[in-house]
Amino acid sequence: MKLERGKDLLYLSQQQIVDLNITMEQMIDLMEKMYTEKSKGNTQMPSKIALHTVKEFPGDFVHTMPAYISSMDCAGVKIVSGYENARKLGYPYISGLYMLTDVETGIPLAIMDCVWMTTVRTGAVTGLTAKVLANPDSEIVGLIGTGVQGRIQVHGLMAVMKNIKTIKVFDQSKEAVEAYIKEMSEIYPEVNFEVVDKREDAVIGCDLLLSCVPCSVEPGIEFITGDMIKEGCTALPVDDLVLFKPETCSEGTFAKAFTDDQGQFKGFKDMGFFRTFKEIPFELGDAVTGKVPGRTSHEEKILTVNIGTGLADVATAKLLYDIALEKDLGTVLPL
Ligand SMILES: NC(=O)c1ccc[n+]([C@@H]2O[C@H](COP(=O)([O-])OP(=O)(O)OC[C@H]3O[C@@H](n4cnc5c(N)ncnc54)[C@H](O)[C@@H]3O)[C@@H](O)[C@H]2O)c1
Repeated sequence: MKLERGKDLLYLSQQQIVDLNITMEQMIDLMEKMYTEKSKGNTQMPSKIALHTVKEFPGDFVHTMPAYISSMDCAGVKIVSGYENARKLGYPYISGLYMLTDVETGIPLAIMDCVWMTTVRTGAVTGLTAKVLANPDSEIVGLIGTGVQGRIQVHGLMAVMKNIKTIKVFDQSKEAVEAYIKEMSEIYPEVNFEVVDKREDAVIGCDLLLSCVPCSVEPGIEFITGDMIKEGCTALPVDDLVLFKPETCSEGTFAKAFTDDQGQFKGFKDMGFFRTFKEIPFELGDAVTGKVPGRTSHEEKILTVNIGTGLADVATAKLLYDIALEKDLGTVLPL
């Protein structure tokens, strides 16, 4: 498919994006390339801009996420929401749209649904993070939250960690756990999915820790303490550390912490998140390129605070756009 810049706009719906058949391995490679470019200084990304429109759920958000990767010729902006009320009404928690722009003229090239990219790039970044920072012999995964991210995070890990034997699973919803176990044990019959009744049991003894619950602030939701974290564990939460007691992240539990973007981490800190961190975590991209050391011993406990970046989105949007043109998929609209 050939589009005329300034006249045609490509629209990609949720289904059209799924039909592009992009694999987790492709996405992990793409994230590695993007973080390499980030570490080399070939990217621009202001911190997410947040709106909070529902008083009862102050963690709910509408985020605007612009980003540019000069060496990959891509620029654009995502507007994405995460709403508890959406979940209550039976819609997915995350929804939104992406606009990809031409890097020479700023003219819009495509508008696409952003659910797939938000979901899959987050799992791919976790896969990449584990590849770079986790002990390769990690066998036991702890997972809290068995929704959309609970699935894709495990897909990301399974693509790179070849020794996973057991996944201990906790969710506050019994129905969510049942559906999860049924679906995931069919995909990974070699893995023992073990449902735990107490949330602590999904943390204690794990080599890799995933937490993927809504960021909405709930009284009593923070429970993870340093003594629950096993030696050598790599913690990979994607929910802004809502389950961690604040002191767990500041009082020497973790030998090192990494984040997907230091600037954005600082922006979140200014908004009141991660308030007990005395130092800004290292850049994940610098661990990817070896600019900073990653894991230096089997025993060290490592924390990663991947908040989600516009850079991961823009790299993904460009890949979706290129493959859609190649495969002649999508809807062409007049600009
Ligand atoms: N860092 C990133 O790049 C990124 C990207 C996408 C989503 N996220 C975050 O991932 C998290 C999960 O998103 P999702 O789309 O999977 O949501 P989801 O609604 O699909 O799943 C959330 C699951 O958590 C469970 N849950 C809720 N409260 C819980 C609690 N207190 N204890 C245990 N389980 C609980 C729910 O029952 C549900 O199964 C959100 O915080 C979201 O903002 C982060």
